[in-house]
Amino acid sequence: MSSFKAGEPPSARDSAAERASEARAIPVAPAGDPATFPALAEEIHRLARERDAVILAHSYERPEIQDVADHVGDSLMLSRVAATAPQSTIVFCGVSFMAETAKILSPEKTVLLPDLAAGCSLADSITVEQLRQWKAQHPGAVVVSYVNTTAAVKAESDYCCTSGNARAVIEAVPRDRQILFLPDMFLGMWLERVTGRKLTIWLGECHVHAGIRAEDVERWHREEPGAELLVHPECGCTSQVIEAAGDQAHILSTEGMVAFAERSKADSFLVATEVGILHRLALKAPGKRFVPVNREAVCQYMKLITLEKLRDALRHNVYQIDVPTDVAARARLALERMIAIA
Ligand code: 13P
Ligand code: SF4
Repeated sequence: MSSFKAGEPPSARDSAAERASEARAIPVAPAGDPATFPALAEEIHRLARERDAVILAHSYERPEIQDVADHVGDSLMLSRVAATAPQSTIVFCGVSFMAETAKILSPEKTVLLPDLAAGCSLADSITVEQLRQWKAQHPGAVVVSYVNTTAAVKAESDYCCTSGNARAVIEAVPRDRQILFLPDMFLGMWLERVTGRKLTIWLGECHVHAGIRAEDVERWHREEPGAELLVHPECGCTSQVIEAAGDQAHILSTEGMVAFAERSKADSFLVATEVGILHRLALKAPGKRFVPVNREAVCQYMKLITLEKLRDALRHNVYQIDVPTDVAARARLALERMIAIA
C-alpha cells in the first residue's frame, strides 16, 4: 500500500514506480463495483442504439463514464458536437449548463442529464437579475459570458466563450467597446493579460479551480523542475504561475492540455485543473507522466454522474432538459457567435 498523502511532494513517496502509478491514477474512488462496469457499459451501448442517442462526456467525468462515451472533450468541443450530432437524443454526462447549451443549440433533440443535481458553483455565481443590474450600470457595454452560466444569463449576453476560445472572442470585440466579462474573475484577469484589453470583470469563481493555489504549483515545480506545467485559466494561481514558471507554464483549456501533451516532446507534466482530465491525458499521451498539483481538485458535480445513472437515463428517458423558447432564442445568438469563433 502507498503511504502517499494528498499534496505530498514526490520525494516523500515510497518508490519511483509507485510515484509513477500514483501520478497516473485519478484520486477518485469508482462509483460502484468495477466488476459490474463491463456489463453496464454493454447495456448502455445497447440502450443508446435503441434510443438513437449519442453520449457526450466532459473530461472531468469519472473514467468509466469517459470510457463509455461516444465523444469526450471540453466545453467548446462538446458544444460543437451537440450542435451537429445526427442522433435524435443527446445524453450529456457533464453539468447542467452543458446540457442546457446542447438543448439551446439543438432544440429539436431530446437532451438528457442523468442527474439534475449536477450543477456548477461558477454558473451559480451570477444570477440573471444581477446581470441585468450590472448591465444597467454600464449602458452600451458588450457582455461576454463564459459558457459556465445559466441559459437566462446567456440570453442577456452578446457573446459566449469557453476557455478554448475566450481570447479569440475578446479579440473579436471592437477595441473601443467596454466589455463586461463574467462570471470567472481568474479567467477574466488572464484575458486582460493576454489581450492587453481592460475588462470589467465579475468577481465569480469555480470553487475547484480557485482551490488550486500558487503554493501547490510552486512546490511541485520545485520538485519536478523539468516538467511542463499545464494550467487551466480558471485557476486562482494563474498569474503567479506565469511569473514563477515562465516558458514552462501553458495556460490551456482542458482540450488544449490534451493537444499540447500529445504533441509536446516533454514526457512529464504538472496538471493544474480538475483531476478527471488525468484519465484522458493518460489515454491520449500514453507513456507520459501526468502529476496533479492538487489531488483534491475534484468537482463533486461532475462526479455525480455514474454508469448506473447513465443507464437509467437511457432506460427511462430522464432527466429531460428544457429551456423556455424565448430564452433559448436569445441565448442561441450568443452561443452561435461562440461556436463560430475559433
Ligand atoms: P473547459 O471544458 O472549457 O476547459 O472548462 C472547464 C470547466 O470547468 C468546465 O466545467
Ligand atoms: Fe463548475 Fe468548477 Fe465543476 Fe467546472 S469544475 S463544473 S467550473 S464547479
